[in-house]
Amino acid sequence: MNILITGAGRGLGLELTAEALERGHSVIAGVRHPEKSQTELSKLAEEHGDRLTIAKLEVTDEEGIAALAGELKEQGRTLGAIINNAAILTARNTPIEALDLNDMLTTMDINLYGPMRVVKHFLPLLTEPEPSIINISSEAGSITNAYPGDYPYSISKTAMNMFSQQLHVYLKDRGVHVLSVHPGWMHTDMGGEQAPTDPRTSAKGIIDLIQQRAIPEDRFMFVDYTGKDMKI
Ligand SMILES: NC(=O)c1ccc[n+]([C@@H]2O[C@H](COP(=O)([O-])OP(=O)(O)OC[C@H]3O[C@@H](n4cnc5c(N)ncnc54)[C@H](OP(=O)(O)O)[C@@H]3O)[C@@H](O)[C@H]2O)c1
Repeated sequence: MNILITGAGRGLGLELTAEALERGHSVIAGVRHPEKSQTELSKLAEEHGDRLTIAKLEVTDEEGIAALAGELKEQGRTLGAIINNAAILTARNTPIEALDLNDMLTTMDINLYGPMRVVKHFLPLLTEPEPSIINISSEAGSITNAYPGDYPYSISKTAMNMFSQQLHVYLKDRGVHVLSVHPGWMHTDMGGEQAPTDPRTSAKGIIDLIQQRAIPEDRFMFVDYTGKDMKI
């Protein structure tokens, strides 16, 4: 299977790339700055050869995304899964009275419109059997468990879950498996050192979910990386 992963240079994206390659899949690893040294990705490239394609993918740049999709299409590349992983967490713990609304704009642009741009342009390439779209969400996006603070991030993930539901309804008949996945509190740059979950463990769970493919009739699945149901 060919898997497109955004934000693949570090954190969960890097571990998803490594895990997918280890299982024999091919990966198009989207990074913002392929020209800068991507040490970890270069190591994977040495190990896995042309099963890894490192591509420039800035999720706010629709023209760039369209150009990459066009280029891959011209090369005859197809996809079996799209993993929308890239995201930012700004205005952490900021009360509403102090919130800079520019943080909302930037966060929605990356965390929500980013995946929408990616799906818009890469959906035509998702032609391999048993395809999946995985939107990396967060427990922070659960309306049931809402907490005050992290407004931009939480709202972007709640909205992303709606996007997952819309995609589920739109693509169910084509057999596309749409998931919103909470990857756990992981020790990455975003999650910090205290976080209990190894991002590689989360990556393994997410690739398992892609391979298992249980498509529910009624709604998209919002699950954690072990497949456990999350509250919407
Ligand atoms: N860590 C946690 O505890 C946790 C918990 C729940 C959910 N999540 C979710 O899990 C996913 C991965 O998180 P993480 O912990 O691996 O985060 P991270 O360590 O902060 O990495 C974020 C990744 O997103 C990329 N990115 C940011 N803005 C981008 C843009 N405009 N275009 C393209 N790529 C961009 C970064 O690329 P650069 O290297 O170029 O900046 C980086 O590769 C995110 O969706 C996050 O919301 C994480």
